[in-house]
Amino acid sequence: MRFYHKNQFGLVNNYRSFSKFIALSILFVIITAIIVIPAAGENSDGTVPVINGIISANEYDHKAEFAGGDFKIYWTVGESNISIGLSAKTNGWVAFGIGNSMTDADMIIGWVNSTGGATVLDCYSESSRDHPVDEDLGGTDDIESSGGSESDGWTHIEFTRDLSTGDTYDAPIKKSGELEVIWAYGSSDNFNAQHSEFGSGTINLVTGEVEEDEEVRWQLHAFLMIIGLILIGSGNAIAGAMKKKTWWFSAHKTLEGFGGVFAFIGFGYAFYMISVSTNEHFSEPHTFLGLITVIFIVITLRLGKTITKPAGSSKKFKALHRWFGRITTIMMLITVYAGYSLV
Ligand code: HEM
Ligand code: HEM
Repeated sequence: MRFYHKNQFGLVNNYRSFSKFIALSILFVIITAIIVIPAAGENSDGTVPVINGIISANEYDHKAEFAGGDFKIYWTVGESNISIGLSAKTNGWVAFGIGNSMTDADMIIGWVNSTGGATVLDCYSESSRDHPVDEDLGGTDDIESSGGSESDGWTHIEFTRDLSTGDTYDAPIKKSGELEVIWAYGSSDNFNAQHSEFGSGTINLVTGEVEEDEEVRWQLHAFLMIIGLILIGSGNAIAGAMKKKTWWFSAHKTLEGFGGVFAFIGFGYAFYMISVSTNEHFSEPHTFLGLITVIFIVITLRLGKTITKPAGSSKKFKALHRWFGRITTIMMLITVYAGYSLV
């Protein structure tokens, strides 16, 4: 390629054009470097977070808020490591994970005890219940420094780790790009207790952009199921004690029908709730019992319909419906109890 003009000054002019070209190229490279390098993940203002358990304003390069601001993740990507700060609206434990569910996620769990002592553990989440420390699985503790504090009902946890620790129980973090994260916090310092709040999303380590996955609320599931239980239980009571009233049958049918609808919606929501969190369906006593209960509701509704037809109105079918109806209600009560002991 030719980068000079041919004119009467010949070679001398070619030499000047060439020097100008080199100078302009160097300038171009410097300007590009100034623009691109910070965007590639270096500390934007050169400050390195101080890992002392206190997260001060502008200490970190980026911040992502979840659950309407009740859980915050701060981070600064360094040359070969990353500093992460977590703030959650609780005096209990705080957890942060890399992954899209609690199955096989790299996880950090921290808490601050009543005397202000902070514990931050390098864990690995095998399932929604088991989050052993990496060392128990044959891995290593790769938290370089950590700290934590509590103030006004908030817990703050900070730690630093290498972007790539070499431990199979730590997810490597790419300096530039997106990271799928999960988070949770509990109401007490005992992290074996079921979490009270949890969520997930994707954060862009470079731009700080956050995409929060849709929030799932066990409270909505519990509410739907309890309404279902009240309707189905009342329907039973009417069929058991008010058969002398002319309206008992339409009341029974209506209450049981609506109760069933609430239970099915509550079931659908529970299935969705598990799909976006642990993805381990029917693996707990409550969730397994819940599935059986819903199957019982379907069978009872079907039997109810059968006994209203002349062909199905035999004593045998009536007794079957009666017993399935009673057992269904008892199963619902047990499932609700098991549900409350989960949360
Ligand atoms: C009769 C009433 C209920 C039934 C039939 C029922 C059924 C279920 C089912 C089938 C699942 C799991 C879905 C799946 O694995 O895909 C589930 C999950 C769940 N239910 Fe219920 N439920 C009931 C009431 C409750 C109540 C009252 C609560 C809370 C107070 C509750 C809390 C939960 C929680 C927290 C989960 C998620 C468990 C996890 O994350 O591992 N449930 N329920
Ligand atoms: C989940 C839904 C349902 C439950 C839990 C349920 C429960 C019950 C129970 C416990 C009884 C017996 C009460 C007693 O004698 O102590 C009963 C009776 C009855 N139910 Fe249902 N029921 C349901 C749905 C239905 C439906 C949808 C129909 C009709 C379309 C129906 C029709 C009847 C009839 C006709 C009886 C009287 C049977 C007899 O002569 O003993 N039920 N039900």
